[in-house]
Amino acid sequence: MSETDKKIIIAIDGYSSSGKSSMARALASAIGYRYVDSGAMYRAVTLWGLRHGLVIDGKVDEDAIVAALPEINIDFLPIAGEGQHTLLDGEDVEREIRSLRVSDNVSQVAVIPAVRHHLVELQQRFGDEKGIVMDGRDIGTTVFPQAEMKVFVDASAETRARRRFLELQEKGVESAYEDVLANVRQRDHIDTTRAESPLVKASDAVSLDNSEMTIAEQNKWLIDLYHRTLDALI
Ligand code: CDP
Repeated sequence: MSETDKKIIIAIDGYSSSGKSSMARALASAIGYRYVDSGAMYRAVTLWGLRHGLVIDGKVDEDAIVAALPEINIDFLPIAGEGQHTLLDGEDVEREIRSLRVSDNVSQVAVIPAVRHHLVELQQRFGDEKGIVMDGRDIGTTVFPQAEMKVFVDASAETRARRRFLELQEKGVESAYEDVLANVRQRDHIDTTRAESPLVKASDAVSLDNSEMTIAEQNKWLIDLYHRTLDALI
């Protein structure tokens, strides 16, 4: 079998704003795989809750959100040259789900076990045909424990906040660096201490600290790992 015939599942987990989404997207596009941003799904549910008054200043009406889950329709729309946009009930919400308003509330929504079970089930369906790169917090541990390739990405909180701040500036989203740093720290805390599938490195994941790496360097690191993983499987 040639290397390109063998399709695998690639799980990329890590702390908020560690650059995992850009590296996951770049890898998927380089190897012709589908990319799925699991965080966008938690963000979309959070936006739905904010719009319906069920999420207010970090307080979540858990029962009402859980009851609404079957009606919340999340999808992805491929956009040429841009990866994909997240759709909420058919509306393109890609920009809105990245706002600080959503970031400030998403981890509180993501701790709810029934929300996690619902989204994990949707995420697992994307893996049915393999040939997928998914990024998130629990992909290598809970969504695809059988993934052939697992990466765990980390960088210092300050490096991650700086990156997120520049990204928001580029997108024209108003924010202050101190607020972004506070949000990164708060989400790290909630994500690592929650009871249901907390953010931890899977024992068989390969660690990457990309604090000192350029985007080109981290993309190369990832694609090299992909080739080594396939070589080991064939
Ligand atoms: O892009 P960034 O690292 O800021 O975060 P994200 O991947 O968009 O995820 C937003 C939030 O959703 C995280 O802080 C987690 O609270 C939650 N999340 C999760 O619990 N499990 C996942 N698989 C993905 C995201």
